[in-house]
Amino acid sequence: MDLKDISLYVDDRPAEGVFRVHRDVYADPELFELEQKFIFERTWNFLGLESQLPKANDFVTAHIGRTPVLVARDTKGGLGAFVNVCRHKGAVVCRAEAGNAKYHVCPYHGWAYDASGRNVDIKDRKSGCYSPAFDAEDHDLLPLARVARYKGLVFGSLSAEVPALEEFLGDMRFFLDLMMEQGPRGMEYIPGRAVYTYRGNWKLQLDNGLDPYHLTSTHLSYIDIQSRRRAGLGNVEARQFDWAMRESKEGGSFGFPHGHSVYWLDQPEPEKRPIFPAIPEIRARLSDRHAEWMLKARNTEIFPNMQIADAITLMLRTFHPVAVDRTEMRSYCLAPVGEAPELRAWRLRQFEDFFNPGGMATPDDTIVYAECQSGLAAQPMTFLQGHSRGIAAAMQGGNDVAEALGIRPTVSVKGGFTMFNEVAFHAPYREWARLIQAGVAGGKAYP
Ligand code: FES
Ligand SMILES: [Fe+2]
Repeated sequence: MDLKDISLYVDDRPAEGVFRVHRDVYADPELFELEQKFIFERTWNFLGLESQLPKANDFVTAHIGRTPVLVARDTKGGLGAFVNVCRHKGAVVCRAEAGNAKYHVCPYHGWAYDASGRNVDIKDRKSGCYSPAFDAEDHDLLPLARVARYKGLVFGSLSAEVPALEEFLGDMRFFLDLMMEQGPRGMEYIPGRAVYTYRGNWKLQLDNGLDPYHLTSTHLSYIDIQSRRRAGLGNVEARQFDWAMRESKEGGSFGFPHGHSVYWLDQPEPEKRPIFPAIPEIRARLSDRHAEWMLKARNTEIFPNMQIADAITLMLRTFHPVAVDRTEMRSYCLAPVGEAPELRAWRLRQFEDFFNPGGMATPDDTIVYAECQSGLAAQPMTFLQGHSRGIAAAMQGGNDVAEALGIRPTVSVKGGFTMFNEVAFHAPYREWARLIQAGVAGGKAYP
């Protein structure tokens, strides 16, 4: 591996119409280490929803790269985030995903911490013959360097040297607003989630979440079952989409600074979205523009490892890199707080159809990720050819759609659905290359 020249990994020459990613980016364990150090440990990471933590002592756990994190609401109402690792000998303190606990007791030797991360008990401390030097040490959980919220989304950073969260998200905020402002009382997860692990690199999910090109080949059985259901066969509750109708529609993508990207498409069947009955309320509360854009299909990537998709149903997922060839996924069904039960049922049927690990589409994806990962080890492959569709239609900066929205992307594409542009991947890989290069050169992540 030679990182003196990052273009050996991400060959980015917009003026020449070239954007290529080397297979090592997905397969090299040394690069995986650098990603941990120079990406996950030096940028903002999504941790959870504020609506998961309404009461004192509510908590959720998450990961920033390989670091376990505990987010908790303290008794004064503040939100804290800590490294979920015991100061004694390094065991993960809180094993649960979410809950309410006044104290978090380490399963190993029983040291206890409260919801503000404070060490409240060192078991058998009096008989322990500890030295004054030990007593003088701080035993609390280590706080994250930064915690911040945007529209109910909680983010944290292990590094203090990050831009303000609003600046990090930039104009991607408009697309987050379209997700997080769908209900007048905010958004929440429908209880339950899908968790599964796939045998592939985390960036296979990053790509796939912005990749409509695979839909009509990978998910043929899903599309076929939907068409049979539209004919009245089998389970008809999920409001089956007619995928052929998307082919005549227009869509596009925007890339933003700091690696964020969004794919959008005019939705031919807006009445099949659970948000549809709420549109008059949304129009009145927000704007015509919000209502119009909430009905478009949108897939968003918040760099590095969170996506919100609103193309089938509203879904938030995180992908946690466990090893270079192993990734843990978590998918949640997002819904407006206080939504009517029949709308929620409609939403859930669409979610489980597509996104559950036992659904009709997600297994197709996880299998192709594993197949890519074994293919990515193959010689003599070098650069992949999967980041090139749509380059000839790409505009650096904003296009007319961006101008109408008042946003300033770094790259824009607009065209027919079947262009299936791959320019949407460029912003994340540009940022990937920038952060790795800055780290290897000994520079700051955000100079
Ligand atoms: S590792 Fe937690 S109490 Fe020993
Ligand atoms: Fe897929």
